[in-house]
Parts: sequence; C-alpha cells; structure tokens
Amino acid sequence: MPTMADVARSAGVSVATVSHVLNDTRPVLPHTRQAVLEAVDALGYTPNTLARSLVTSRTRSIGLAVSAISNPYFTEILQGVEATALDAGYSLLIADPHDDPAHERKVVQLLHERRVDGMIVAPSANPQDLVAYLGRHAVPTVLLDRVLPTGDRPTSAPHLDQPSPDQPCFDQVCAENTGPTARLVTHLAGLGHRRIGLVAGLAGLSTTSERITGYRQALAAAGLGHDEALVVSGNSESAAAERATAALLSLPAPPTALVTANNAMTIGALRALRRLGLAVPDDMALCCFDDFVWADLFSPRLTAIAQPSREIGAQAVRVLLDRLAAPDRPARTVRLPCTFVHRTSCGCPEDRDEAQGPRPDGPGGRTEPSALSEKGTAS
Ligand code: HPA
Repeated sequence: MPTMADVARSAGVSVATVSHVLNDTRPVLPHTRQAVLEAVDALGYTPNTLARSLVTSRTRSIGLAVSAISNPYFTEILQGVEATALDAGYSLLIADPHDDPAHERKVVQLLHERRVDGMIVAPSANPQDLVAYLGRHAVPTVLLDRVLPTGDRPTSAPHLDQPSPDQPCFDQVCAENTGPTARLVTHLAGLGHRRIGLVAGLAGLSTTSERITGYRQALAAAGLGHDEALVVSGNSESAAAERATAALLSLPAPPTALVTANNAMTIGALRALRRLGLAVPDDMALCCFDDFVWADLFSPRLTAIAQPSREIGAQAVRVLLDRLAAPDRPARTVRLPCTFVHRTSCGCPEDRDEAQGPRPDGPGGRTEPSALSEKGTAS
C-alpha cells in the first residue's frame, strides 16, 4: 500500500504539503496541488482513516440505530441522514434494534465500540437501558422520531418524566404529531362523523401518545364525546392493526370513520375492511397518519398526513454536528411540521384537477401545511 511519504517523494514535496492538499487544511499553490493529486492518482494512494483517527480521536463516522428500516418512513429518514452526513464528510454505520430494548442496548454499545463520533437513535418504547448507557459514556446522541419528555409534552412513559443522571437531556428531532392527528379528526368531524375510531401505535412511544392526545383534543374541540372503546392498539404494525380494526368493527356501535396512526397500520386496517367486505369511504371513512408513494394509487386515494421524513433525517445530522462542534450547548428538541394531503378516502369528492396526476414532488393530492403544527423548530 503506498503511503503519504511515497506520494510526497513522487511529487517532490513534503509530507505536510501532501497532508494539506488532501485535508484542505492550508492553501497550497495550484501547481504543487496538481503535482500531489497526480502522484496520488499514479500511485493509487488512499488515505488510511484508521491512522488518522488514532491521531485525531475522531472517526468521522455516525452510528444510526433505527428500527423498521424497511418501512418507507424510516427508509426516507435514512436517505436524509446519509446524504447530509456524506455532504459533511461523515460515513454511516447502521444498525436495526428491532424495537427491542435489549437488542437496542447491544447495537448501540457495538456502534460506540466502533468509536463513532456520535449517534442518531430512534429509541424503543422502553429505552431506560439505552438512555443509561448513552449517559454513562457521554455519547453525543440525537434521538430521532420518538422523543423523551422534556417537561412540555404529555407522554405514556411516566418513568421518564424527570431528567436524571441516568436520563440526560438529549438533542431530539421529530415531527409534529398532536396537531396533525387533530387535523385528521377535525376533518372527519366536519364531514359529520360522530363516532371516529383510532388505531393507535405501540404503547410507550412518544409518537403514539402524542397522536392519541391529538385525537382526544380534536374530539373535545368538535364537542364529541370520548368513547375509550373507539381507541384500539395496532402496536404500530400491520397484523396487530388488522386485528384491532376487526375488533373495532365488531363493537355494538362501530365507528363510521377511522384514523390510522401510521402507514403500516393503514395497510392492516384496509385488510380488515376488505375481509369484512366494507368499502372506503362509503362504509368507513379513512384518514391516515403517514403519506407514502403508493397512497394515491389506492382506490379511493388516501387522505393522509405527510411527515417530512427526509428532512427529519437531515436535521438530525445537522443537530448532531452542532453538538460535536459545541459539546456544552443546551440540548434542544426540533419539531418539524407535517402536511395535510387531502384526497378522497375521507369521503370528499374527487377534485377533477387533482385527479390529473401526481404532483412532481410526490403522491397526488391537495397539500396544506398542517395548520396546527406549533412551530418549525423549537428549543
Ligand atoms: N414513528 C413515526 N411515524 C411512523 C412510524 C414511527 O415509528 N412508523 C411509521 N410511521
């Protein structure tokens, strides 16, 4: 393997000059720079990042631990993380904790042992061990999608209510959940529905509790009573949502409209409806949290909340890089607004103009930034 010294000898310059050219650490005369790059090319030199890491104690790598990587929501997040990290000169090490607390703790330790400079983690519903590990080892970390309470939000994880040495405050990046879910419920109530069901996600995730809060707030605002029987758990996945939807439909007074709290659960709910021979929207109106590329290919086309998934990933990297640059800065939570994509599964008629085809930038539908999103970014 050619070394930097070989490059220096071949270009007739010092090793320091080679280093300045390759790392852009000091201006170098154009013809000298050219000679170095030609020597690099001719010798087939590649920098030894391991050797550099030993000197700098930095690996210029980020560990990413997100579950359900095959879910389009998380795949798009991954794309945002990857592109932004690459732009900043960082590579990624990726792990899937499978939403299992023990596995989560293990993969995060493995990433840490590989000496990633920082981590981006979508925590499981029981992240105590994870949080303790990250805190104990002071790993610069951004929590993604599922956030820990910062004191200003309701949560179904009361054991995490108070920050403690074991639960340090983390930087966090997520989407708005409460307002956008309320937007769906308000829309259905406006169409005259009085019994609106919710297929909710996995208990213990902030996304689940915030979406339930949004559902309840909108029912109250519409003057509709709250019937606990209309909220069922789909565990954030399709099969459980299918069972939960079937249970809702077998109630003595079933709902006339459904809100599904993520894309996987929308699929499950649609399966249950089809099995029972029920048509959307005539027998059951449907509004979904999560838009995805096929959402306007369903018949009817799905009225949905679109999350800024790619931007969530990109923003998580930016927040992590800020943290690496200024380790003592106060932790912050960044919440990104969602978009209401109005199609026809809610029971609204097809808009001729909309039916012409998809928007250039995504699935067709009339979009409207979620009016209820509280702020683009917040501390
Ligand atoms: N969180 C938020 N949105 C989602 C998820 C999740 O875990 N899965 C699918 N959409």
